[in-house]
Amino acid sequence: MRKLILVAASIAALTFVGPASAQSPIVLKFSHVVASDTPKGKAADKFKELAEKYTNGKVKVEVYPNSTLYKDKEELEALQLGAVQMLAPSNSKFGPIGIKEFEVFDLPYILPDLKSLRKVTDGPLGAQLLKKLDAKGMTGLAYWDNGFKQMSANKKLVAPSDYKGLKFRIQSSKVLEAQFRALGSIPQVMAFSDVYQALQTGVVDGQENTWSNIYTQKMHEVQKYATVTNHGYIGYVVVVNKKFWDGLPGDVRDELSKAMKEATEFGNSQSAKENDDALAEIKKAGKTEIVTLTPEQDEAMRKAMLPVYKDVASRVGQPLIDEFLKETGRSPMN
Ligand code: LMR
Repeated sequence: MRKLILVAASIAALTFVGPASAQSPIVLKFSHVVASDTPKGKAADKFKELAEKYTNGKVKVEVYPNSTLYKDKEELEALQLGAVQMLAPSNSKFGPIGIKEFEVFDLPYILPDLKSLRKVTDGPLGAQLLKKLDAKGMTGLAYWDNGFKQMSANKKLVAPSDYKGLKFRIQSSKVLEAQFRALGSIPQVMAFSDVYQALQTGVVDGQENTWSNIYTQKMHEVQKYATVTNHGYIGYVVVVNKKFWDGLPGDVRDELSKAMKEATEFGNSQSAKENDDALAEIKKAGKTEIVTLTPEQDEAMRKAMLPVYKDVASRVGQPLIDEFLKETGRSPMN
């Protein structure tokens, strides 16, 4: 069914005839997989508000949250076909379409804080990575934050040995696969929209995600424990179909760029608070025990995951990993 919708939508996209008259605005479909009440959801809604305001109604932005249009993998296919015009997939999701470099963001403990992240995304390395999207028929417009990932399971996760033999849902990233293998777990790639049910029915034992995603997908209702690990990062690349973008009248593209810049500033200034608020709500709900690690336990987790850097060096690129670490000025061990 989804495939059919995709084909129909792409035929419709092919009939796009460029600049629209006042009666028929240019429609920009923005599909994403998370709830509206998340860092990405709010930034997407802000973009819609500003884009429609700045273009004076010449562009109509339709935001489709919560995988209502497409699941993870289909989203990028749909964008390349022109069935949707804009997405903000996580860095982890670009590997399957052949841009493995974005998986560098998935390396465990590669980002100590959001300040270090900005050095990468706002600097030459961030721009260089966005350029790689051109060859895939898309233009990278911005980096949006979610935040740091936490581990959850029905078993208390403290030491690396606690992860042994457990099945964890992962996004489609080879780095994340290597991360869970380093812990002796069994990683399972699964679309975001399927995670709640998989946890509920025991298809997987655990997962990793940000507090805002855990809370808005109600994962905390079906996981007995969540450990504050901050071991990885989830952020997004806002991408637009290149043909659509290049075909827009220059003034419209400028107005949309302005809207994107402001929506990015808005979203990224709030993401940390949104995750803190979600954690507070999870605690309030009282269904999940929140586990915190001592500095020694944290160090043991870092040590256990360190081999991942070697495991994925040839895939992601050692020079890229080195450059990334140089930009942040930190090591995964501190
Ligand atoms: C996930 O699949 O866990 C995340 O990428 C979802 C999202 O977009 O935050």
